[in-house]
Amino acid sequence: MKIHEYQGKLIFAKYGVPIPKGYPAHTVLEAEAVAKRLIEETKSNVVVVKAQIHAGGRGKGGGVKVAKGGAAEAKELAQKILGMQLITHQTGPAGQKVRHLYIEQGLEMVKELYLGAVIDRDRRRIAFMASTEGGMEIEKVAEHTPEKILTVHIDPIVGFSAFQARELAFGLGLQQYSKETVGKFVKLMGALYEVMIKEDCSLVEINPLVVLKNGDVVALDAKVNMDDNAEFRHKAQWAEVFDKDEEDPVELEAKDVGLNYVSLDGNVGCLVNGAGLAMATMDIIKHAGEKYGVAPANFLDVGGGANQEQVTKAFSMILKSDKVKAIFVNIFGGIMKCDVIAMGVVAAAKNLGLKVPVVVRLEGTNVELGKKILRESGLAIIPADTMADGAAKIVAAVTGGSK
Ligand SMILES: Nc1ncnc2c1ncn2[C@@H]1O[C@H](COP(=O)(O)OP(=O)(O)OP(=O)(O)O)[C@@H](O)[C@H]1O
Ligand SMILES: [Mg+2]
Repeated sequence: MKIHEYQGKLIFAKYGVPIPKGYPAHTVLEAEAVAKRLIEETKSNVVVVKAQIHAGGRGKGGGVKVAKGGAAEAKELAQKILGMQLITHQTGPAGQKVRHLYIEQGLEMVKELYLGAVIDRDRRRIAFMASTEGGMEIEKVAEHTPEKILTVHIDPIVGFSAFQARELAFGLGLQQYSKETVGKFVKLMGALYEVMIKEDCSLVEINPLVVLKNGDVVALDAKVNMDDNAEFRHKAQWAEVFDKDEEDPVELEAKDVGLNYVSLDGNVGCLVNGAGLAMATMDIIKHAGEKYGVAPANFLDVGGGANQEQVTKAFSMILKSDKVKAIFVNIFGGIMKCDVIAMGVVAAAKNLGLKVPVVVRLEGTNVELGKKILRESGLAIIPADTMADGAAKIVAAVTGGSK
């Protein structure tokens, strides 16, 4: 689960990670009011108006603006940013609508750094990464100048040790700013480790972490992702910070009925049972269709024990997507019975109408009954015997047989 910058900063504050003063705002009037309040509290006319969306690269997309002319200018900026479709390298071409703002005190920094913590699954440890190249896209630094990223791994039994933070601090050259800067960084990193562990985060990223003139280190940005597997430990708090407006509506619908669904960019809707078979299905569609612009439009695992209602829901979700040009139903009936799948497919197709070709490959428990239900439904279904056969037929269906 992702949360907004302002929500992440509230968590930072709770654990003692220094942040600038700031307040969220959900309307232009509120933005003006909190800008006034900030200006009074900080005795500075500089405030930053920041779009709150669950995607990075807001600054470059025009979603982070500095106002030096007081609350009136902050209001103007809020007017521009609130409600805009913010397009960044992470939002996709349609962008993401800005529904919330964060109004923050503007700070003058002498250096922008990067500090992040992730779970390194290979090492089974939390990895802290730091770089002097903060502020810009860290992915590019990692790609072009990997030597500029310093990494330490935290032993889960020993926990965080100050010497590891000092290793990063000296690696970043923090001793050049002030005598206290190294110590402040060590404290901040310890607090960040606490955030990571106690809040069950999968990622915590500060880009930029800045050094101020007086040698203080402050988190100017906060990207905090929660590990969904730990939801049961934080049910109430996470429900409060969950922003459904930022989620794919179809994925939300799927979650509600207990389906594993991920939207993708292609044009073949896939109804599959079992995560492994779903992955293999996506692979074989890509393999057969890549040259012809045929690719999966979604990952959907209806699970082992789905009932007819879930299958109907799943198939309806695929039918409703206008990017879907053909549907591949690929089922291996083990615990899942083929007749249940067939009834779900028929029910959804009768309900919503079938406008695209459907290729079905069924195997396993009650396969004959399943095939009979499909045959007698009167739906124009293209049967397939094997996965490869199905993939070839799907490609033909999308390309109109012109492959
Ligand atoms: N409170 C602030 N005071 C001064 N400058 C700021 C402040 N907040 C942000 N900035 C400037 O704006 C830049 C972008 O801000 P921020 O990192 O929050 O957004 P972003 O990098 O565009 O978004 P993301 O990290 O989601 O990609 C920062 O690198 C910093 O230079
Ligand atoms: Mg940033």
